[in-house]
Amino acid sequence: MRPLVATIDLSAITQNYAVAKRCAPGRQAFAVVKANAYGHGVREVVTALHDLADGFAVACLEEAAEVRALQGEARILLLEGCFDANEYQFAAQLGLDVVVHSEQQAQQLLAATLNRPLNVWLKLDSGMHRLGFNAAQLRDWYGCLSGAEQVAELNLISHFACADERGSEATEHQLEQFLDLLDLDFAQRSLANSAAILTIPAAHMDWLRPGIMLYGATPFADLTAKELGVRPAMSLTAQLIACRDVAVDEVVGYGGSWRAERPSRIGTVSCGYADGYPRHAPAGTPVIVGGHRVALVGRVSMDMLTVDLTDAPDAAIGDAVELWGAQLPVDEVALAAGTIGYELLSKVTARVSRRYCSH
Ligand SMILES: Cc1ncc(COP(=O)(O)O)c(C=O)c1O
Repeated sequence: MRPLVATIDLSAITQNYAVAKRCAPGRQAFAVVKANAYGHGVREVVTALHDLADGFAVACLEEAAEVRALQGEARILLLEGCFDANEYQFAAQLGLDVVVHSEQQAQQLLAATLNRPLNVWLKLDSGMHRLGFNAAQLRDWYGCLSGAEQVAELNLISHFACADERGSEATEHQLEQFLDLLDLDFAQRSLANSAAILTIPAAHMDWLRPGIMLYGATPFADLTAKELGVRPAMSLTAQLIACRDVAVDEVVGYGGSWRAERPSRIGTVSCGYADGYPRHAPAGTPVIVGGHRVALVGRVSMDMLTVDLTDAPDAAIGDAVELWGAQLPVDEVALAAGTIGYELLSKVTARVSRRYCSH
């Protein structure tokens, strides 16, 4: 069997959920489990959070149906709402909470014949300019949807663009836009993603929406997961499958892009870009081999990557390699590769077997 596995510590996820809840006592929290629970396996994550989570948030109806099959009662929030008119009926059958972010969605909802009314979250575009109504439109639609037969609760939601930049003026402005609408009598309000849960108490409202923090990574460039008190859930581990010595001026990997400047020992690791390791990770990106931190060298291949073992002379074929996880925060790898932990975690591909544990 190919020695590559993503080990998911489900107790880290339940503990991280508890951290989110402790940040905002008395509030409820939708665990954001879209994109296969950020790559961690939606079924296992939802099952682990079964007795704990107040609700779950997903990106589409297909994801919602998967969660509903495991969770008969929990609230499930469809973050982008329905993509066409036919989806409302199915959403009602599944008993979902739906975002309504556009006139088209609002009109389709009002035209729908539903077997039961839906909890509706009117989305305010408070400054991100991706989805949502401006304040005036939102007030109009509040009026139109209040009391409509298709609507159970009428709620308010918005999303921050820059909550990961501490002290951001844009975030202040977004918060003000949201607060300005609170003269309307919404049943529930939701604004805070992980960054806001952790650092902006004024944004906590009624329902939190923690995503990345559940998985033990940081949304911030200047605060580590450890500093935030969350524990990494996924360790991506492989093995050293080959070792060789290369002389000065020998090159390594596709394109010969890395050249040895000293006599070097090169290790080959059973993980590549078809597993979700970023192909654009540059030489120097950290990798843990047998507990030692070494550097990636040469281009990442589809199924393998190479590391410089010159300063880890005891490393040998069969040694455990951690690409990220308990010993090496995914955020460090992401920083080296010019991306974010979110992308690395959610892009671990289906061919990587997931193993689950609880410590
Ligand atoms: C609308 C919405 N709310 C909450 C989240 C969770 O954000 P985070 O993973 O930064 O906590 C996301 C994630 O992208 C989102 O799109």
